[in-house]
Amino acid sequence: MKKSLRLILSVVLSAVLVLSLAACSNGNGPAVSSTPTSTESSEVSGTTSGDSESQPIGIITAMSNELKMLLEKAEISETKTIGGVDYNIGKLEGQDVVLVQGGIGKAMAAAGTSVLINEFNVKSIIFTGIAGGVGDEVKVLDEVIATDLVFHDYGNQTNDGFVWNAEGGVNEDGSIPVDKDLSQKAYEAAVSVLGEEHVFQGRIATGDQFVASSEYVTYLQDEFDAIACEMEGAAVARIAAQYEVPCCVIRAMSDKADGVAHDTYENFGDTAADNSAKIVLTMLQNM
Ligand code: ADE
Repeated sequence: MKKSLRLILSVVLSAVLVLSLAACSNGNGPAVSSTPTSTESSEVSGTTSGDSESQPIGIITAMSNELKMLLEKAEISETKTIGGVDYNIGKLEGQDVVLVQGGIGKAMAAAGTSVLINEFNVKSIIFTGIAGGVGDEVKVLDEVIATDLVFHDYGNQTNDGFVWNAEGGVNEDGSIPVDKDLSQKAYEAAVSVLGEEHVFQGRIATGDQFVASSEYVTYLQDEFDAIACEMEGAAVARIAAQYEVPCCVIRAMSDKADGVAHDTYENFGDTAADNSAKIVLTMLQNM
């Protein structure tokens, strides 16, 4: 090949390379993973970015009955489906929100939380839904606002049975934090909706199990000092902590996680779900 032709070819190839790299960095290009060079940083900021006035609040639930009232009250301007899950963008009680029924269990909750943070740049996250009452004093239709959470099913299965492992959490004791201010706002809203005697603040235990066993309730009390159990809260809080996005977990008791939990849940689940949603509405009004 002639020297001049080689030169033209290499200029054209370089231009194509530069243009395609520019397209990728604009977010218009294909999803590619790149290995950073020694002069690039591979770290992306963990926190959400932007003007918090214009950032929406993310509201996530597991089930449709937990989101129903909020969807009915909201003015939804757009719905984006990501990974088969609908993210409803709009206004609720004067606040910009993204409402999502993330799905049941830790995996779906973590995925939904990650999308709220990374696709919608939410400034905070509120989980609302129902749970099983674990604390002796916590009755059906009472409300629990998480002070922190644990993954009760994270650990090792051994010949001596299950051994819980604190490494699933954030703090040394294995607990996962929530935002104090946001949780306090949730508590105040809950008290104004239900009355102080029906609202508790304490630890919530999360696992991929519907708990319907008095024996396991005693275990959750003794091992974790938990006052409620459910299947998503700690996963939401774990991902929110990872990205340093404030979050809170609001749960109404649909049952007592005991031997008759399935029946109690059938009877009280919808009312409990609505109670938590009302608390979210009040919280948004007060913000
Ligand atoms: N959500 C509502 N009740 C529950 C229970 N008993 N266990 C786990 N998640 C729940």
